[in-house]
Amino acid sequence: MTMIKRLVLSSDHAAIELRRVIADHVANLGWDVVDIGPTTSESTHYPKHGQAAALRVASGDCQLGIILCGTGQGIMMAANKVVGIRCGVCSDTFSARMIRAHNDANMLAIGARVVGAGLALDIVEAFLAATFEGGRHATRVDMIGGSQD
Ligand code: RB5
Repeated sequence: MTMIKRLVLSSDHAAIELRRVIADHVANLGWDVVDIGPTTSESTHYPKHGQAAALRVASGDCQLGIILCGTGQGIMMAANKVVGIRCGVCSDTFSARMIRAHNDANMLAIGARVVGAGLALDIVEAFLAATFEGGRHATRVDMIGGSQD
């Protein structure tokens, strides 16, 4: 049985174009892309888009999420307020790989005013191709959820 790989995408107005480029690319990689907008470049508020995407992941509707704003920072902060979300901002492929390998990140944030489309797609590919290593990293990821022991 083939598992459906579903990924949610969202952004604010600062990243509409890059989000579309990423949506096409991720779909070409075989993912079922759930692009929850927004669809126009009208100024909007990144927290609601970050939270909406995060809820899709936290609920299990989507396995992973990619969110974008100007820097990636604000929308990442909003997503991480949702219980069960581990989202990192990445501007390089090493970090994109490691946030999954060591931190079991389920969301990736990118700054559309920070990286160009070519690098953004490499970052996305690195994130999607990586897998969580578990072991000692699982203990630490569990600690993010509350336990400090
Ligand atoms: C919007 O101008 C900008 O503040 C937003 O996209 C983001 O960079 C916030 O973190």
